[in-house]
Amino acid sequence: MASLAVTDIGELTTNDPDAGDGPMGRRTGAGLVLDDGVVAWVGASRDTPAADGVLDAQGGSVVPGFVDSHTHLVFAGDRADEFEARMAGAPYAAGGILRTVASTRGADTDELAAGARRRLREMQASGTTTVEVKSGYDLTVEGEGRLLEVAGGVSDEVTFLGAHAVPAEHAADRDAYVALVAGAMLERCAPEARWADAFCDPAAFSVDECREVLVAARAAGLGLRLHANQFGDSGGVELAAELGCASVDHCTHCSADGARALAGAGVVATLVPAAEFCTRSPYADARRLVDAGVTVALATDCNPGTSYVTSMPFVLALAVRELRLTFDEALYAATAGGAAALQRDDVGRLGVGSRGDLVVLDAPRAAHLAYRPGSVLVRSVLRAGAQLA
Ligand code: NIG
Ligand code: FE
Repeated sequence: MASLAVTDIGELTTNDPDAGDGPMGRRTGAGLVLDDGVVAWVGASRDTPAADGVLDAQGGSVVPGFVDSHTHLVFAGDRADEFEARMAGAPYAAGGILRTVASTRGADTDELAAGARRRLREMQASGTTTVEVKSGYDLTVEGEGRLLEVAGGVSDEVTFLGAHAVPAEHAADRDAYVALVAGAMLERCAPEARWADAFCDPAAFSVDECREVLVAARAAGLGLRLHANQFGDSGGVELAAELGCASVDHCTHCSADGARALAGAGVVATLVPAAEFCTRSPYADARRLVDAGVTVALATDCNPGTSYVTSMPFVLALAVRELRLTFDEALYAATAGGAAALQRDDVGRLGVGSRGDLVVLDAPRAAHLAYRPGSVLVRSVLRAGAQLA
């Protein structure tokens, strides 16, 4: 279909000040037209130009499709037992990553791809139209390459995360593992990925180890992102600022100086409150980051250990209730913020020229996404104008 008119939108959020009121670019009684999957017109519903097809929003609200900029979708196995133990009082143990590594190494490629597609469908059904996908659950040269190939089957935003954990066979010589990640593994994986990431944490890799991997990755042509400060102040936030990463993710422990460093370097802070929810950990100080002028993104961190969550509406509700973001700050972070974390300007917005990625809600205002946590409010989901759900 060449063009599609979306009519009778009760409340439209575009994130584009040129397409509506205020910084959220909001309109009531709105319509929009997609032409070849791209937003071609935004205005009052009654003025909507004729198009080849019509989607009647029936007074429901429309928001940009969610941009989930941090996920670990490709894995095999299940760690519900760890979740149950944590809820009964056990602490999170980073060693759980190696349980998923064992299951993932043992899974055939079709099984991995089917699992990733199943989780992607869940995400799409809750309104996600762009998703980043990491490797990190094999930790061998060929195995990480295989995971990235599977990731490339479900997304264009693919991230090499060889520095996720030190595998058992390298436990006695972590320096050799870091050299492998920055050497032969990177060489195998760089052509399959857009980004490189590392897990900078007291229980994972040090600042110097992460720097070694990321500097090599940048030389191999990859963009940089970093898991940092999840379980303690690892110094990773400052490393992300030093390297000019696109995004630093988690930031559960981030000092005022760290927040200022991110603002100064223009690094996005991607917050993943579902990981804190599922590990019963303290939440990130989102207000400190926003007030320091840092661009904040929200993501699910979907993974089998700390956050087996696919729903961005759930993350939005947590961000409002627990991170104390206003609803508009949270909605922006889950859409335009995620796009900034992926250095994309074609998604996360619904102004003229944006990709036609949108969610029609069975609610008169988008704020119902946080006001009615747990309710399924997504009525339809379009990606580049094509119906996903
Ligand atoms: O983002 N922090 C590192 N990686 C994941 C956890 C992975 C796991 O426990 O399997 C995360 O929370
Ligand atoms: Fe993660």
